[in-house]
Amino acid sequence: MAVLTIDGIQLEVPEHKGVLECALEAGIYIPHLCHHPDLPENASCRMCIVEVEGTEGVVPSCTLRAKDGMKVKTKSQRLAKLRSLALELLLAGHPEDCSTCPKYGNCELQTLIQYMGGAGADMKYRVKGFKTQEENPLLVHDMNRCVLCGRCVRACNDLRGVGTLQYQKKDMETYVGTLHDKLLIDADCRFCQACSEVCPTGSICDKLMMANSDNKPKEEVVVPCRAACPAHTDVPRYIRYIKEGRFNEAAAVIREKVPFPKSLGRICTNVCEFQCKRGNVNEAMAIRNLKRYAADQDTGEIWRGKGKQLPDSGKKVCVIGGGPAGMTAAYYLRKQGHDVTIKEALPTIGGMMCYGIPEYRLPREIVSEEYTIIEETGIHTEVNTRVESPKALRKDYDAVLMAIGTHNGISLPIEGNELAGVLLNTEFLRKASLHQETGIGKKVIILGGGNVAFDCARTAKRLGAQEVHLACLEARDKMTASEEEILEAQEEGIKIYPARSFERITGIDSVTGVDFMKVLSFEFDANRRAVIKKEEGSEEHIDGDTVIFATGQRPAITEEAGLALGRGNCIAVRERSLMTSEEGIFAAGDAVYGTKTVIQAVASGREAAIEIDRYLGGDGNISEILAPIEKADGFIGKQKQFGYEKRATGQIVAAEKRQDNFKVMDYGICSEDVCQEAGRCLQCDLRLQITPPRLWGDFKGREEDVV
Ligand code: FES
Repeated sequence: MAVLTIDGIQLEVPEHKGVLECALEAGIYIPHLCHHPDLPENASCRMCIVEVEGTEGVVPSCTLRAKDGMKVKTKSQRLAKLRSLALELLLAGHPEDCSTCPKYGNCELQTLIQYMGGAGADMKYRVKGFKTQEENPLLVHDMNRCVLCGRCVRACNDLRGVGTLQYQKKDMETYVGTLHDKLLIDADCRFCQACSEVCPTGSICDKLMMANSDNKPKEEVVVPCRAACPAHTDVPRYIRYIKEGRFNEAAAVIREKVPFPKSLGRICTNVCEFQCKRGNVNEAMAIRNLKRYAADQDTGEIWRGKGKQLPDSGKKVCVIGGGPAGMTAAYYLRKQGHDVTIKEALPTIGGMMCYGIPEYRLPREIVSEEYTIIEETGIHTEVNTRVESPKALRKDYDAVLMAIGTHNGISLPIEGNELAGVLLNTEFLRKASLHQETGIGKKVIILGGGNVAFDCARTAKRLGAQEVHLACLEARDKMTASEEEILEAQEEGIKIYPARSFERITGIDSVTGVDFMKVLSFEFDANRRAVIKKEEGSEEHIDGDTVIFATGQRPAITEEAGLALGRGNCIAVRERSLMTSEEGIFAAGDAVYGTKTVIQAVASGREAAIEIDRYLGGDGNISEILAPIEKADGFIGKQKQFGYEKRATGQIVAAEKRQDNFKVMDYGICSEDVCQEAGRCLQCDLRLQITPPRLWGDFKGREEDVV
């Protein structure tokens, strides 16, 4: 250690540590610009100069190493004058107008000018005349605002080891760019965005941060996959483990937030992929398939026995409904030490994962395998148990959770909706799952365009329907079903009719078909009523002997249950607490917000567990660390043609082999592709490891105390 004196203040610091860093850490501000604590020094800006007792002239404090007995002065008239000169040089090629800069109010150069009391404000600026580069994904480069501090170049070369950004020269003007001014993708950029993170001006900016008009927290914009996942699964962290072939660790990361990774790896609606920044470069990461692979390979070695299990609290909770929301809530409530019982009306646990989603998408043994792990925590399970009065349960339980899902299908009020041969989505899918007679004929018409409609269509096909037609109000590009679902259904021979209004179901006693009209436009008014504009003379008829309404579903509950109900027969809950109109009775999942996705139900189940635990006197902290906490290596290195690497595709059984049976049809990505696919990740979270700048404003109060 060395004793260093800065402005009369004695500091004990490690010998050879940079004097600028020693000062900043001690709360003594020295102006600086090219220095960044995570980057090697280049001492180019000379803003950080100081005087050292016994040394002639001035020296940059960023490269000055601490020595025992060294005495440093950071303020003097000479230093102020020389810093003004240095600032003028920096500003010589920088535009005068800050107000149009995307970093306005957030620019290190701007705060430096403020610290210097407006020095350099009267000087004549030289216009560089560079064209702003907006053609690259994720980043905008405006070299007119560059002060050549070189932070971006060092971040790209020394911090990341990528080497895309270099100093270039054109018409006697030095600038930062790529060799031969190639596009970033052609210069093997890895789009980690470290350059924009360390840039102290508005020269290199993150397009998504610039577009963040609703001021989302930075972490959400920088790592959008994690923010988009309703359960906030740490996607970049588990993908990094997959890349290293550490599948057990990856599965443990996923399990920190979701109790059934295998199921979600097969049927999650992967909202994370729609936000994945790799999609701006070429194709989004195959996140769901990566999750599936890790979950399938998992031996449990990392997470088993490691999760939280608090001692018994003496409190009893009844969860009504064994779907994803109920299972999740039960799991975390048990871990909080409560005695939990799940009461399920159907013969097995799983809810819509077993009685809605068809088996060819999610094999039942996967659900039951994952429920066994949940049950092993000590949860009691009662199947074939319908609860009529949740209020009555309060005698035996300290809290009750209504996680009953939306098991009642709804029909539309159109002519013919009561004819024989008219079925409802949920009932049809439930009967098919239970291998019961569904009552479909040979020509089936599905009304609706969401994922449930496609489940009905593809199930009907597999049950032997010769013709399956699917019609919906929405135009093709507005259909709510996932694109892969639509394309796979078409491959299986299902005929799709988007933008159709359902005029009437024809037939005397039983269905003979449906009359449609073409829809020109369709929207909901303020009262959520559909406003449909139809094309005159566009009437058409499709023959059929079965019609399945797949136009929505509702919770199977009436007011007799004694709970206040809201729109769509959903259970009304108090804001934030998820408590219903009845004290001690909570609700979660689809039963609260209408039919959504399994991952949303997981998120809702977690929320319910937090609220119920708090209600029962716990701290509501259900978080768990199951995987090792390791700092990711930011030196990602060069990778030729990185931006062009293609997304790995799943192995799907051919349409003719899958359309007449309920066997698994998607085998996910293969072992040969998995690490390569994980290697395509931009590792956006690495950027959050970069130390934020220390601005003069952060020191104001502290400096006055010190000086
Ligand atoms: Fe030290 Fe620039 S020379 S911060």
